[in-house]
Formats: sequence, C-alpha cells, structure tokens
Amino acid sequence: MLVLFFLVSLAHALYANSKHIYELTPDSFDDVVYKTNHTSVVEFYAPWCGYCQQFKSQYIKAAQASSDVAQYAAVNCDSPENKQLCNEYRIEGFPTVLVFRPPKWTGKITRKNGHSSEIYRGERVASKLTEFVKGRVKNYVKRVNAGKFASFVAPEDKPRVLLLTSKTSISPMFKALAIDFLGSLEFGYLTVTDQIRSEVEKLIDLKQLPQIVVIDRHGSFHRYEGPTERTAIAKFLGNYGVAEDGETSTRGAFLRGLKKGLYKSFRDFKKSRAEKSKSAKNVKDEL
Ligand SMILES: *[C@@H]1O[C@H](CO)[C@@H](O)[C@H](O)[C@H]1NC(C)=O
Repeated sequence: MLVLFFLVSLAHALYANSKHIYELTPDSFDDVVYKTNHTSVVEFYAPWCGYCQQFKSQYIKAAQASSDVAQYAAVNCDSPENKQLCNEYRIEGFPTVLVFRPPKWTGKITRKNGHSSEIYRGERVASKLTEFVKGRVKNYVKRVNAGKFASFVAPEDKPRVLLLTSKTSISPMFKALAIDFLGSLEFGYLTVTDQIRSEVEKLIDLKQLPQIVVIDRHGSFHRYEGPTERTAIAKFLGNYGVAEDGETSTRGAFLRGLKKGLYKSFRDFKKSRAEKSKSAKNVKDEL
C-alpha cells in the first residue's frame, strides 16, 4: 500500500525523471537548500496547473544549462506531505520560483538558515532564469592583479587555485568550484593583460588561456590539463584540497542517492553509510 502510494506520488511529480532537478519533501528540503554554500533555485508547483506544465521544459533547460553553478529543485505542492512546506513559504500561485542564497561564509560559524530568499519575477524562459541565477552565485574568488600576483603565488599553508584568463569577469563555474572547496583551497583569477604578461610568464607558461594552475603549499605549480568541466576539475583539485560540496564530495553522493530515491534525507544517507561500513567491517573480522 505504502509502496503503491509512493509510486503514484512520483508519477505525478513533474521532475522525477529530470537529471538535474531534485524533487524535495519536508525530509530533504533543509538538507538540500540550507546545508550548502551554493545558491538554490526551487520551483513550487502543482502538476495540474497549466502554467507549470508550460514552464516545465524551460525549467529543465535552465537546470541543464546552469546546474554546475547552482542547485535546481522542485516542490510538488499538490502532494499531501508537502502542503505545510508550501504554506511555510507562502506559496500563493503556481509556479512560484524562489532563489535561496546562503550567507557569505567568513570562516566563523554562521547561524543556521541565515539564507535569504527572493521570488524570481522574470520571464519564464530558460535563458532569462539562467542569467538571473548566475548573478546570484556567491563569489569567493579573489581578483589577483599585478600588485598581488607575487604574494598570491608564494608558498603558503593553504594551496591556491589560480585561473588565468583573458576575460575580465569570473566564470560562474569557477565561482562554484571555489564554493565546493571553501575553507580548503584559496581561489583567485588573473586577467592576463599586456602589462603583466611578462611578469607572469617568468613563472607560468601562458601558451594556453584560459588555464588553471594550483600552487601547492611548497610553492610548486601544477597545471590542469583536462576538460573545462566542473567535476573533472574538482577531481584534479581533490589532489590538493577537500571538497565539502559538489559531485566529488560526500554531499554529492547524498544528492545522487536522493535523486535516485535511495534516501529521503541526509540522516538516512548517513545511517545507510554507517550500516554499510559496519557490515564491511564484520565481513573483514570474519575472514
Ligand atoms: C560553508 O562552508 C564552510 C566550509 O566548508 C562550512 O563550514 C559551512 O558550514 C558551510 N555553510 C553552509 C550553510 O553549509
């Protein structure tokens, strides 16, 4: 009976099959939206609402285009278990898109749920939403100019990640990587102008731009050679620091499991991990 109910409610969920959109419930909402330094987009909808059905393909498109800079989620307000959640956020019309921004992390403990939320009132078009969301990603990437270059690349306890680019603006994906490694790696970007080119070239080969270089604690340089893709870069950066968020982190494993319906909450995920490692240990003890 319970299983049947679960299947029925998933069947009505608009985004159960969309790779980049998490269908949230009261069990998972706080874990996904508040326990992260990433920006989250949440669409509150009802499956029967015409505007929601119209918006669906645009929302999926937006998530595809920018799931590597922000999280995308949805709440089915027609589902009985979500009624209270939708009341709490004062959802009055469907669809309502809320964008949640975490407080800036300063190294101190911040108050829980210090996030701000704002209603997206723009056009319900993927490109417009994506643009809006990209502008709401917190920035932890420092601008490194000619005056700061020497000190940025000097040996220091915390390894540094430097994006060398010909552009003057920071790529949103690089901002997202800085969030994944918050507290572990320091991020900077340097716009290579004619003025500083020769100074930089004394240390770094600038044949190719953009490029990412890690300066480890001993001051050695390590150039990233792979594709310009968040997970691939995160794997490389994992050699020098620890990701607390993103695909390669523990949280990433939880989010994948949530998407597959394996867990309902982070607590579920932790419990299942603990059980797995316990049974692995038992097997080892028996051998
Ligand atoms: C932000 O990142 C820091 C460092 O990893 C972490 O201590 C803090 O809990 C994170 N904040 C949130 C809201 O998850």
